[in-house]
Amino acid sequence: DRDGRVEALLGKMTLEEKLGQLQLVGTETAARAALATGQLGGVFSVVGAAKLNALQHIAVEQTRLRIPLIFGLDVIHGYTTNFPIPLAQGASFDPAVAATDATVAAKEARRSGIHWTYAPMMDVTHEPRWGRIAEGYGEDPHLASRMAVAKVRGYQGDDYSSPDRLAACAKHFVAYGGAEGGRDYNTVDVSLQRLHNLYLPPFKASVEAGVATVMASFNTISGVPAHGNGYVLHDVLKGAYGFRGFVVSDYTGVEELILHGLAGDGADAAAAALPAGVDMEMVSTNYVRYGRRLLAEHRITRDQIDDAVRRILLVKVKLGLFEHPYVDESGEVKAPSPAALAASRQAAGRCMVLLKNDGPVLPLAKSVRSVAVVGPLGAATYDLNGTWAGLGTGAWTTPPVTVADGIKAAAPGATVTFTAGCTVDGTDTSGFAAAQQAARAADVTVVVVGETAAMSGEAAARSNIDLPGVQQQLVAATKETGKPFVVVLVNGRPLTIPYLHDNAPAVLEAWAPGVQGGHAIADVLFGVVNPGGKLPVSFPRAVGQIPIYYNHENTGRPADPANKYTSKYLDLESGPLYEFGHGLSYTTFRVDGLRLSATRMPARGGRIQVSAQVTNTGGRAGDEVVQLYLRDPVASIVQPVRRLRGFERVTLAAGASETVSFTLTPEDVGFYDNAARFRVEPGEIEVYVGTSSAATLTARFTVT
Ligand code: IFM
Repeated sequence: DRDGRVEALLGKMTLEEKLGQLQLVGTETAARAALATGQLGGVFSVVGAAKLNALQHIAVEQTRLRIPLIFGLDVIHGYTTNFPIPLAQGASFDPAVAATDATVAAKEARRSGIHWTYAPMMDVTHEPRWGRIAEGYGEDPHLASRMAVAKVRGYQGDDYSSPDRLAACAKHFVAYGGAEGGRDYNTVDVSLQRLHNLYLPPFKASVEAGVATVMASFNTISGVPAHGNGYVLHDVLKGAYGFRGFVVSDYTGVEELILHGLAGDGADAAAAALPAGVDMEMVSTNYVRYGRRLLAEHRITRDQIDDAVRRILLVKVKLGLFEHPYVDESGEVKAPSPAALAASRQAAGRCMVLLKNDGPVLPLAKSVRSVAVVGPLGAATYDLNGTWAGLGTGAWTTPPVTVADGIKAAAPGATVTFTAGCTVDGTDTSGFAAAQQAARAADVTVVVVGETAAMSGEAAARSNIDLPGVQQQLVAATKETGKPFVVVLVNGRPLTIPYLHDNAPAVLEAWAPGVQGGHAIADVLFGVVNPGGKLPVSFPRAVGQIPIYYNHENTGRPADPANKYTSKYLDLESGPLYEFGHGLSYTTFRVDGLRLSATRMPARGGRIQVSAQVTNTGGRAGDEVVQLYLRDPVASIVQPVRRLRGFERVTLAAGASETVSFTLTPEDVGFYDNAARFRVEPGEIEVYVGTSSAATLTARFTVT
């Protein structure tokens, strides 16, 4: 059996060989150097089947025990075929979107020699300034858990030794999204209840779904950096959750314990990280350097080393690397297949959120005679892929279809012009006149504005999340022409866009939509796809309102515009500009007929079915996401005003109805307290069902 095989191998290993398995390097040069001493467990960020096979030949043919290397890569939302960024996928409220991305990416990457992806990222965050909000699923732990689990299953399937599957990595463990001020890598000070109720659930769910590996996070957690945090790694992840895979450091996270101030030198760092539960060290080399000395000094134990090696070997065995260390170079995937492109285009359509549509001005008529595409992102290519597309550079990925080209293809009879008007973040407005001229000459103008790919993702925090540069003025200049226009947003985070809300007739949130972005945007603009995405994160009115999130606690003085002494700002309306779960359609829906199968739920083994009817009350087929929220109004730990506990995206023909049901169990009404104990307390629970976090249809039941 697998465990027996690992034990047999472990029994033959020298201490140096064991420490070598704990080392992961990020370049070919470093890999060759480490292989020369026989001390290497894996390599990441090296791409190309021939290169990977060459390294594997050294490991398998020239090291004493012939242990194969594991090859990792940040396959975040596609390998050669980029799908929409994960935040966009959160907006689909459709786990199948995440599963499809992962299935397509796993096949492309594994056939190209990669075994292991550093995804899914599942960091819940209340921080739109934080660039890495683009890489996760937004502000809600339930949504993030459902998407993360779908993605883990999509990568790994039932058996990740298959030539079309990858080992996944749940990251970043944990609370990375809590970075103070949204500044990347920053301090996180978090109560135990919030750690367990907000940040940990997607990781717990991913472990239950069998995720192969976990990556530690760069932040501190209440004073203890994650890479040296035995409570989260050892006690919670490996203890309470029973995680049997291995934990990898995030880059030089082990060595960074020195700058954090937890370790005096590299040996100290290794002595903190290994016992805490970091099994594999990425890039920095403190385990191999100091392991023998630390063991002699009794600062680490042989059991700790063996446990780490065992975990790494077990994943290698499960990957089938001992049987199939090499990849068939003739099968390497260098470009997207037509099926992969079609899947990406469909996914992107499902991720788009119609924020506003007055008139309605959208969808555009296919018979339109002329369209002016205006704005710096109207002819953008790689920016549509967003962050983490091909080592962040688009190195081997295919350039995305531009919005202008997508519109040309969708309306072949129309004259389509493109005028940038300005750059994304420059100050030059001299191009506005040409943009206005184009708008005046066209039936309708599509203004494409937002952020470049580099403005979100790792180390891409922004202190101001307005539209960068003079793009808002460009929208104003377009409005001045008096001609019809719509705004398409391409971006990796919520933006503060009250101006657009007040002045643009229609706003479509397209996020970074991936390789088929231009086609997918045109599909929605022309109504081939009826938008059904919903916001996975609140859109603030102004940056000073951050953090603003739907699942907040009540204060003793909830905001009341009529009462000064309540929790609000003097200079800003309360509440977000667009709430979590918001998103319009080209049709309309009604949700009614809320029913509960019982009025009492026993705290042990109880179960209640909640059902409601959703009806398409408009004139065309469309999608609605029926959302179920709960509130526990009286509890021993103050509970959020609402918590998402269920959602289902349904497609309905005009006039059609469907009954949507959710099953609630004590797990849905319980919560972790400040001793990290899960509690299900007796009392009333309020249920809200509707089409956003502002749902008003309500009922109650009692937990007994
Ligand atoms: O996987 C990433 C991580 O998310 C951020 N630091 C680098 C790692 C490897 O590239």
